[in-house]
Amino acid sequence: MTEVDLDHHRSGDAVTAELRADVVAGLTAAQKWLPPKWFYDADGSELFEKITQLPEYYPTRSEREVLAAHAGDVAKLTEAHTLVELGSGSSEKTRLLLDALTGHGTLEAFVPLDVSESALAEAAEAISKDYPGLAVRGVVGDFTQHLGLIPGGRPRVVAFLGGTIGNFLPAERAAFLHSVREVLDEGEWLLLGTDLVKDVRILERAYDDAAGVTAEFDKNVLRVLNARLGANFDLDEFEHVAHWDAGNEWIEMRLRARRELTVEIPGADLTVTFAAGEHIRTEISAKFRPSGVEAELAAAGFALEHWWTDSQQRFGVSLAKSVRG
Ligand code: SAH
Ligand code: AVI
Repeated sequence: MTEVDLDHHRSGDAVTAELRADVVAGLTAAQKWLPPKWFYDADGSELFEKITQLPEYYPTRSEREVLAAHAGDVAKLTEAHTLVELGSGSSEKTRLLLDALTGHGTLEAFVPLDVSESALAEAAEAISKDYPGLAVRGVVGDFTQHLGLIPGGRPRVVAFLGGTIGNFLPAERAAFLHSVREVLDEGEWLLLGTDLVKDVRILERAYDDAAGVTAEFDKNVLRVLNARLGANFDLDEFEHVAHWDAGNEWIEMRLRARRELTVEIPGADLTVTFAAGEHIRTEISAKFRPSGVEAELAAAGFALEHWWTDSQQRFGVSLAKSVRG
Protein backbone atom coordinates (compact mmCIF):
# COMPACT_ATOMS: atom_id res chain seq x y z
CA MET A 1 0.00 0.00 0.00
CA THR A 2 1.58 3.24 -1.10
CA GLU A 3 1.06 6.52 0.69
CA VAL A 4 2.34 8.52 -2.27
CA ASP A 5 -0.27 9.41 -4.88
CA LEU A 6 0.71 8.46 -8.41
CA ASP A 7 -0.65 10.16 -11.55
CA HIS A 8 -1.87 7.52 -13.97
CA HIS A 9 -1.69 8.01 -17.71
CA ARG A 10 -2.16 4.35 -18.59
CA SER A 11 -5.39 2.44 -17.98
CA GLY A 12 -5.32 -1.38 -18.00
CA ASP A 13 -7.49 -1.54 -21.14
CA ALA A 14 -5.41 0.98 -23.03
CA VAL A 15 -2.23 -0.91 -22.11
CA THR A 16 -3.66 -4.20 -23.38
CA ALA A 17 -4.80 -2.53 -26.63
CA GLU A 18 -1.33 -1.10 -27.11
CA LEU A 19 0.32 -4.45 -26.39
CA ARG A 20 -2.01 -6.13 -28.89
CA ALA A 21 -1.11 -3.60 -31.59
CA ASP A 22 2.63 -3.98 -30.90
CA VAL A 23 2.38 -7.79 -30.97
CA VAL A 24 0.51 -7.79 -34.27
CA ALA A 25 3.01 -5.36 -35.83
CA GLY A 26 6.09 -7.07 -34.40
CA LEU A 27 5.25 -10.74 -34.75
CA THR A 28 3.85 -10.50 -38.28
CA ALA A 29 6.96 -8.67 -39.56
CA ALA A 30 9.50 -10.53 -41.72
CA GLN A 31 12.06 -10.01 -38.93
CA LYS A 32 10.01 -10.55 -35.76
CA TRP A 33 10.47 -7.98 -32.99
CA LEU A 34 8.87 -6.74 -29.78
CA PRO A 35 9.33 -3.32 -28.10
CA PRO A 36 11.43 -3.53 -24.91
CA LYS A 37 8.97 -1.65 -22.72
CA TRP A 38 6.93 -4.87 -22.41
CA PHE A 39 9.68 -6.48 -20.28
CA TYR A 40 8.68 -4.35 -17.34
CA ASP A 41 5.77 -5.86 -15.46
CA ALA A 42 6.43 -6.30 -11.71
CA ASP A 43 8.56 -9.44 -12.34
CA GLY A 44 10.47 -7.77 -15.17
CA SER A 45 11.29 -4.76 -12.98
CA GLU A 46 12.57 -7.08 -10.24
CA LEU A 47 14.66 -9.01 -12.77
CA PHE A 48 16.16 -5.75 -14.02
CA GLU A 49 17.14 -4.84 -10.46
CA LYS A 50 18.87 -8.24 -10.17
CA ILE A 51 20.70 -7.54 -13.43
CA THR A 52 22.05 -4.29 -11.96
CA GLN A 53 23.76 -6.34 -9.23
CA LEU A 54 25.39 -8.90 -11.53
CA PRO A 55 29.19 -8.90 -11.71
CA GLU A 56 29.01 -8.81 -15.53
CA TYR A 57 26.57 -5.88 -15.75
CA TYR A 58 28.90 -2.90 -15.33
CA PRO A 59 26.64 0.00 -16.55
CA THR A 60 24.88 0.60 -13.22
CA ARG A 61 28.11 0.61 -11.22
CA SER A 62 29.91 2.78 -13.77
CA GLU A 63 27.12 5.34 -13.92
CA ARG A 64 26.89 5.38 -10.12
CA GLU A 65 30.61 6.18 -9.97
CA VAL A 66 30.07 9.17 -12.28
CA LEU A 67 27.07 10.42 -10.33
CA ALA A 68 28.88 10.04 -7.02
CA ALA A 69 31.71 12.19 -8.37
CA HIS A 70 29.58 14.83 -10.13
CA ALA A 71 26.14 15.11 -8.50
CA GLY A 72 27.46 18.16 -6.64
CA ASP A 73 28.43 19.77 -9.96
CA VAL A 74 24.94 19.06 -11.32
CA ALA A 75 23.41 20.78 -8.29
CA LYS A 76 25.64 23.86 -8.54
CA LEU A 77 25.33 24.22 -12.30
CA THR A 78 21.57 23.70 -12.58
CA GLU A 79 20.18 24.99 -9.27
CA ALA A 80 17.20 22.82 -10.14
CA HIS A 81 13.87 23.23 -8.36
CA THR A 82 12.46 20.06 -9.97
CA LEU A 83 14.20 16.81 -10.81
CA VAL A 84 12.25 14.79 -13.38
CA GLU A 85 13.41 11.22 -13.94
CA LEU A 86 12.27 9.29 -17.03
CA GLY A 87 12.29 5.48 -16.88
CA SER A 88 13.10 5.88 -13.20
CA GLY A 89 12.78 2.23 -12.06
CA SER A 90 14.07 1.95 -8.49
CA SER A 91 15.65 5.47 -8.61
CA GLU A 92 18.52 4.08 -6.52
CA LYS A 93 21.34 6.01 -8.23
CA THR A 94 19.09 9.06 -8.36
CA ARG A 95 19.49 9.40 -4.60
CA LEU A 96 22.97 10.78 -5.29
CA LEU A 97 21.33 13.61 -7.25
CA LEU A 98 18.62 14.09 -4.64
CA ASP A 99 21.25 14.33 -1.89
CA ALA A 100 23.25 16.91 -3.83
CA LEU A 101 20.25 18.99 -4.91
CA THR A 102 18.59 19.01 -1.49
CA GLY A 103 21.99 19.77 0.08
CA HIS A 104 22.35 22.72 -2.30
CA GLY A 105 18.98 23.95 -1.08
CA THR A 106 17.15 24.46 -4.39
CA LEU A 107 15.19 21.24 -4.92
CA GLU A 108 11.44 21.29 -4.21
CA ALA A 109 10.02 18.39 -6.23
CA PHE A 110 10.99 15.00 -7.60
CA VAL A 111 8.94 13.63 -10.51
CA PRO A 112 9.79 10.02 -11.41
CA LEU A 113 7.98 8.63 -14.50
CA ASP A 114 7.86 4.97 -15.42
CA VAL A 115 5.61 2.43 -17.17
CA SER A 116 6.17 0.03 -14.28
CA GLU A 117 3.69 0.95 -11.57
CA SER A 118 5.18 -1.48 -9.04
CA ALA A 119 8.73 -0.13 -9.39
CA LEU A 120 7.49 3.46 -9.35
CA ALA A 121 5.27 3.03 -6.29
CA GLU A 122 8.05 1.39 -4.30
CA ALA A 123 10.62 4.02 -5.25
CA ALA A 124 8.28 6.98 -4.71
CA GLU A 125 7.26 5.70 -1.31
CA ALA A 126 10.84 5.10 -0.15
CA ILE A 127 12.09 8.46 -1.43
CA SER A 128 9.17 10.34 0.06
CA LYS A 129 9.98 8.79 3.44
CA ASP A 130 13.73 9.45 3.17
CA TYR A 131 13.46 13.04 1.88
CA PRO A 132 10.89 14.79 4.09
CA GLY A 133 9.96 18.19 2.68
CA LEU A 134 10.47 17.04 -0.91
CA ALA A 135 7.27 16.83 -3.02
CA VAL A 136 7.37 13.42 -4.73
CA ARG A 137 4.95 13.23 -7.66
CA GLY A 138 5.21 9.86 -9.41
CA VAL A 139 3.79 9.51 -12.91
CA VAL A 140 2.81 6.11 -14.32
CA GLY A 141 3.29 6.80 -18.00
CA ASP A 142 5.19 6.22 -21.22
CA PHE A 143 8.11 8.56 -21.86
CA THR A 144 7.37 8.46 -25.59
CA GLN A 145 3.80 9.70 -25.01
CA HIS A 146 3.33 11.52 -21.71
CA LEU A 147 6.07 14.11 -21.41
CA GLY A 148 3.71 17.04 -21.86
CA LEU A 149 2.12 16.21 -18.52
CA ILE A 150 5.18 16.66 -16.33
CA PRO A 151 4.58 18.99 -13.37
CA GLY A 152 7.11 21.03 -11.39
CA GLY A 153 8.64 24.45 -10.80
CA ARG A 154 11.47 25.84 -12.95
CA PRO A 155 14.30 25.31 -13.53
CA ARG A 156 13.95 21.58 -14.13
CA VAL A 157 16.53 18.87 -14.79
CA VAL A 158 15.27 15.89 -16.76
CA ALA A 159 17.40 12.85 -15.91
CA PHE A 160 17.40 9.89 -18.28
CA LEU A 161 19.80 7.43 -16.72
CA GLY A 162 20.99 3.86 -17.06
CA GLY A 163 21.64 4.05 -20.80
CA THR A 164 17.92 3.55 -21.52
CA ILE A 165 18.32 5.97 -24.45
CA GLY A 166 20.22 3.10 -26.11
CA ASN A 167 17.06 1.00 -26.14
CA PHE A 168 15.58 3.23 -28.87
CA LEU A 169 16.30 2.75 -32.55
CA PRO A 170 18.22 5.76 -33.95
CA ALA A 171 15.13 7.47 -35.45
CA GLU A 172 13.14 6.91 -32.23
CA ARG A 173 16.07 8.32 -30.27
CA ALA A 174 16.08 11.53 -32.31
CA ALA A 175 12.30 11.88 -31.92
CA PHE A 176 12.57 11.28 -28.17
CA LEU A 177 15.30 13.91 -27.68
CA HIS A 178 13.24 16.42 -29.66
CA SER A 179 10.19 15.67 -27.52
CA VAL A 180 12.17 16.25 -24.31
CA ARG A 181 13.49 19.52 -25.73
CA GLU A 182 9.94 20.57 -26.62
CA VAL A 183 8.68 20.31 -23.03
CA LEU A 184 11.62 22.24 -21.58
CA ASP A 185 12.06 25.99 -21.51
CA GLU A 186 15.26 27.49 -22.85
CA GLY A 187 17.99 27.14 -20.21
CA GLU A 188 16.54 24.02 -18.55
CA TRP A 189 18.58 20.83 -18.40
CA LEU A 190 18.92 17.23 -19.59
CA LEU A 191 21.16 14.80 -17.68
CA LEU A 192 21.71 11.83 -19.96
CA GLY A 193 23.41 8.49 -19.26
CA THR A 194 24.93 6.71 -22.26
CA ASP A 195 26.78 3.41 -22.28
CA LEU A 196 29.96 3.58 -24.38
CA VAL A 197 31.41 1.40 -27.15
CA LYS A 198 33.98 -1.02 -25.69
CA ASP A 199 35.49 -4.49 -26.00
CA VAL A 200 32.88 -6.83 -27.45
CA ARG A 201 33.61 -9.52 -24.82
CA ILE A 202 32.72 -7.15 -21.98
CA LEU A 203 29.53 -6.16 -23.81
CA GLU A 204 28.36 -9.65 -24.66
CA ARG A 205 29.01 -10.90 -21.12
CA ALA A 206 27.01 -7.99 -19.69
CA TYR A 207 24.00 -9.12 -21.72
CA ASP A 208 24.43 -12.90 -21.26
CA ASP A 209 25.45 -13.44 -17.65
CA ALA A 210 26.59 -16.75 -16.20
CA ALA A 211 23.69 -16.97 -13.73
CA GLY A 212 21.12 -16.60 -16.52
CA VAL A 213 19.32 -13.60 -15.02
CA THR A 214 19.38 -11.67 -18.31
CA ALA A 215 17.97 -14.71 -20.10
CA GLU A 216 15.09 -14.76 -17.58
CA PHE A 217 14.56 -11.02 -18.10
CA ASP A 218 14.52 -11.50 -21.88
CA LYS A 219 12.00 -14.34 -21.66
CA ASN A 220 9.81 -12.30 -19.32
CA VAL A 221 8.36 -10.57 -22.37
CA LEU A 222 6.89 -13.93 -23.41
CA ARG A 223 5.45 -14.34 -19.90
CA VAL A 224 3.79 -10.92 -20.30
CA LEU A 225 2.23 -12.04 -23.61
CA ASN A 226 1.02 -15.26 -21.98
CA ALA A 227 -0.51 -13.36 -19.04
CA ARG A 228 -2.06 -10.40 -20.87
CA LEU A 229 -3.02 -11.93 -24.22
CA GLY A 230 -3.54 -15.59 -23.26
CA ALA A 231 -0.63 -16.67 -25.48
CA ASN A 232 0.88 -20.14 -25.10
CA PHE A 233 4.62 -19.44 -25.45
CA ASP A 234 6.68 -22.25 -23.89
CA LEU A 235 9.69 -20.38 -22.50
CA ASP A 236 11.88 -23.48 -22.60
CA GLU A 237 11.48 -23.58 -26.39
CA PHE A 238 13.35 -20.27 -26.72
CA GLU A 239 17.02 -19.53 -26.20
CA HIS A 240 18.33 -16.12 -25.08
CA VAL A 241 20.99 -14.64 -27.39
CA ALA A 242 23.07 -11.45 -26.95
CA HIS A 243 24.58 -10.43 -30.28
CA TRP A 244 26.95 -7.49 -30.87
CA ASP A 245 26.03 -5.78 -34.13
CA ALA A 246 29.33 -4.11 -35.01
CA GLY A 247 27.88 -2.07 -37.91
CA ASN A 248 25.19 -0.47 -35.78
CA GLU A 249 27.25 -0.54 -32.58
CA TRP A 250 24.46 -2.08 -30.55
CA ILE A 251 23.82 -5.23 -28.56
CA GLU A 252 20.80 -7.03 -29.90
CA MET A 253 18.90 -9.29 -27.53
CA ARG A 254 17.08 -12.09 -29.23
CA LEU A 255 14.86 -15.03 -28.34
CA ARG A 256 15.65 -17.86 -30.74
CA ALA A 257 13.21 -20.75 -31.34
CA ARG A 258 14.96 -24.04 -30.59
CA ARG A 259 12.77 -25.86 -33.14
CA GLU A 260 9.87 -25.23 -35.51
CA LEU A 261 6.96 -23.88 -33.43
CA THR A 262 3.40 -22.59 -33.66
CA VAL A 263 2.19 -20.20 -30.96
CA GLU A 264 -1.39 -19.07 -30.41
CA ILE A 265 -2.03 -15.52 -29.18
CA PRO A 266 -5.82 -15.34 -28.76
CA GLY A 267 -5.80 -11.83 -27.27
CA ALA A 268 -4.30 -10.56 -30.53
CA ASP A 269 -6.27 -12.94 -32.82
CA LEU A 270 -2.95 -14.26 -34.03
CA THR A 271 -1.23 -17.55 -34.77
CA VAL A 272 2.53 -17.16 -35.13
CA THR A 273 4.84 -19.74 -36.66
CA PHE A 274 8.59 -19.95 -36.09
CA ALA A 275 11.10 -21.83 -38.20
CA ALA A 276 13.77 -23.67 -36.21
CA GLY A 277 16.43 -21.06 -35.32
CA GLU A 278 14.22 -18.07 -36.17
CA HIS A 279 14.40 -15.27 -33.61
CA ILE A 280 12.41 -12.40 -32.15
CA ARG A 281 14.48 -9.21 -31.61
CA THR A 282 13.44 -8.17 -28.11
CA GLU A 283 15.79 -5.23 -27.45
CA ILE A 284 18.62 -3.23 -28.87
CA SER A 285 21.06 -1.58 -26.49
CA ALA A 286 23.06 0.96 -28.47
CA LYS A 287 26.53 1.93 -27.30
CA PHE A 288 27.80 5.45 -27.91
CA ARG A 289 30.87 7.52 -28.70
CA PRO A 290 31.24 10.98 -27.10
CA SER A 291 31.17 12.85 -30.42
CA GLY A 292 27.98 11.05 -31.44
CA VAL A 293 26.23 11.97 -28.19
CA GLU A 294 27.16 15.64 -28.59
CA ALA A 295 25.95 15.68 -32.21
CA GLU A 296 22.62 14.02 -31.38
CA LEU A 297 22.04 16.44 -28.49
CA ALA A 298 22.84 19.42 -30.73
CA ALA A 299 20.45 18.17 -33.44
CA ALA A 300 17.66 18.14 -30.84
CA GLY A 301 18.41 21.65 -29.50
CA PHE A 302 20.68 20.85 -26.55
CA ALA A 303 24.18 22.25 -25.98
CA LEU A 304 26.51 19.84 -24.22
CA GLU A 305 27.91 21.69 -21.19
CA HIS A 306 29.64 18.83 -19.37
CA TRP A 307 30.72 15.29 -20.25
CA TRP A 308 31.78 12.97 -17.45
CA THR A 309 32.89 9.31 -17.51
CA ASP A 310 33.87 6.72 -14.93
CA SER A 311 37.51 5.78 -14.26
CA GLN A 312 37.37 2.96 -16.85
CA GLN A 313 35.62 5.13 -19.47
CA ARG A 314 32.81 2.64 -19.79
CA PHE A 315 29.84 4.94 -19.30
CA GLY A 316 29.23 8.62 -20.12
CA VAL A 317 26.98 11.14 -18.42
CA SER A 318 26.17 14.39 -20.24
CA LEU A 319 24.77 17.57 -18.78
CA ALA A 320 23.15 19.52 -21.61
CA LYS A 321 21.25 22.82 -21.68
CA SER A 322 18.25 23.47 -23.91
CA VAL A 323 19.22 26.25 -26.27
CA ARG A 324 16.49 26.97 -28.83
CA GLY A 325 12.71 27.06 -28.62
N1 SAH B 1 16.77 4.39 -14.69
C1 SAH B 1 16.92 3.12 -13.97
C2 SAH B 1 16.10 2.00 -14.61
C3 SAH B 1 16.53 1.60 -16.01
S1 SAH B 1 15.59 0.20 -16.59
C4 SAH B 1 18.37 2.75 -13.90
O1 SAH B 1 19.20 3.49 -14.45
O2 SAH B 1 18.71 1.74 -13.28
C5 SAH B 1 14.52 1.00 -17.73
C6 SAH B 1 13.32 1.61 -17.02
O3 SAH B 1 12.55 2.30 -17.99
C7 SAH B 1 12.40 0.56 -16.38
O4 SAH B 1 12.04 0.95 -15.08
C8 SAH B 1 11.18 0.54 -17.31
O5 SAH B 1 9.98 0.22 -16.64
C9 SAH B 1 11.18 1.94 -17.88
N2 SAH B 1 10.61 2.05 -19.22
C10 SAH B 1 10.87 1.29 -20.30
N3 SAH B 1 10.20 1.75 -21.38
C11 SAH B 1 9.47 2.82 -20.94
C12 SAH B 1 8.60 3.74 -21.57
N4 SAH B 1 8.30 3.63 -22.87
N5 SAH B 1 8.07 4.74 -20.82
C13 SAH B 1 8.36 4.86 -19.49
N6 SAH B 1 9.19 4.02 -18.84
C14 SAH B 1 9.75 3.02 -19.56
C1 AVI C 1 17.30 -0.42 -19.34
N1 AVI C 1 18.40 -0.66 -20.27
C2 AVI C 1 19.32 0.46 -20.31
C3 AVI C 1 19.09 -1.95 -20.07
C4 AVI C 1 20.26 -2.07 -21.08
O1 AVI C 1 21.35 -2.36 -20.63
O2 AVI C 1 20.05 -1.84 -22.27
C5 AVI C 1 18.15 -3.12 -20.23
C6 AVI C 1 18.85 -4.42 -20.16
N2 AVI C 1 18.73 -5.37 -21.06
C7 AVI C 1 19.47 -6.40 -20.70
N3 AVI C 1 20.13 -6.11 -19.61
C8 AVI C 1 19.74 -4.88 -19.23
